[in-house]
Amino acid sequence: EKVVLAYSGGLDTTAIIPWLKENYDYEVICCCVDVGQGNELDGLEERAKLSGATKLYIEDVVDEFVDDYVIPTVKADAVYENKYLLGTSFARPVIAKKLVEIARKEGAVAICHGATGKGNDQIRFELSIMALAPDIKIIAPWRELDTWKMDSREDEIQYCKDHGIDLPFSAENSYSRDRNLWHISHEGLELEDPAVEPDYNHLLVLGNSPEQAPEEGEYVTIAFESGAPVAVNGEKMKASDIIRKLNELGGKHGIGIIDIVENRVVGMKSRGVYETPGGTILMEAHQQLEELVLDRDTMAFKKIVAGKFADLVYEGKWFCPLREGLQSFIETVDKDVTGEVKFKLYKGNIIKAGTTSPHTLYSESLASFTTGDLYDHHDAEGFIRLFGLSMKVRALKDQGLAD
Ligand code: ARG
Ligand code: SIN
Repeated sequence: EKVVLAYSGGLDTTAIIPWLKENYDYEVICCCVDVGQGNELDGLEERAKLSGATKLYIEDVVDEFVDDYVIPTVKADAVYENKYLLGTSFARPVIAKKLVEIARKEGAVAICHGATGKGNDQIRFELSIMALAPDIKIIAPWRELDTWKMDSREDEIQYCKDHGIDLPFSAENSYSRDRNLWHISHEGLELEDPAVEPDYNHLLVLGNSPEQAPEEGEYVTIAFESGAPVAVNGEKMKASDIIRKLNELGGKHGIGIIDIVENRVVGMKSRGVYETPGGTILMEAHQQLEELVLDRDTMAFKKIVAGKFADLVYEGKWFCPLREGLQSFIETVDKDVTGEVKFKLYKGNIIKAGTTSPHTLYSESLASFTTGDLYDHHDAEGFIRLFGLSMKVRALKDQGLAD
């Protein structure tokens, strides 16, 4: 029987290979899903096989990840707890989907992942697998405390050595990181104490801190069609290239670094630093354009939808009917979100530099103080009388001015 292992090539998932063979006697099929994490893929197959796997699949899903997960979330304006741009959260379902596809192709009976028993990722992987392949057994070694006795990198290296696997892994502890095309997350080490300032010189991977950013600001223009980004600085590009380009610009100018204490699904608070340079620019630009195009009621309701969408993505419920339904709503209301947004990027700041749309609802003549045909001041008078009527009635009663 076979098991498909979500494999990164790192020490944690490498140690799982001998563990699986020892405890389950499965044939291990490794699968590395490339969501733009930018790690070295050369030599990965050799490493997997040396560690006892029979096969390694490398699946490049960057465009699928961007088009089917990232962009819908941008259109949704979904942000968890007002700050976290969900970078790790929405990568898990696309990874799980690939693992299921490989499991089916190989006729595997189980899927194994290396997420810990305390985090969100275990939930996201497992809910996605449950929704796509309810018959497949899920193995989470880090929760099997009777047999998974490795508590540190040293333990894992020793375990590998005991099983004849001698690979050049460093025993040194680093941040717990998760990277893809959209972001990188950092947790652990000094970050575990919210009282401590992050060591940004060591921490940052995708760009500069605002202090290190150039003294000179830089303009960027992003074009959207029906809520989706289509061009940067006048150059048409596919969405993944737009994110690459904005990562470069945003990283240079120290954009999108956040330091938060978030509420995990399992009940604990966790402190993390995220770098989302391009994503921060893209989400801000999208909202900027919606400001011009969407009417008041739609914007207000869309905000409710955004909150719910973010919670679903964070909780790992990507493959659920509610997410699909909300996405249909978003597609409909974003139909006219077409136009261009210009920003100046400057030392961690995104400064608005003008927005245009063929579908703008903004009317200069309506908004300005000169009188026009569309707006009659007398209409305002009657409107206000009725709009405030209930408050007036209450005050009349309270003050004994009415029966
Ligand atoms: N706290 C973030 C989230 O729940 C990031 C998790 C990072 N995962 C990791 N395996 N390092 O989405
Ligand atoms: C993990 O526990 O595997 C990483 C953190 C998380 O999933 O929230």
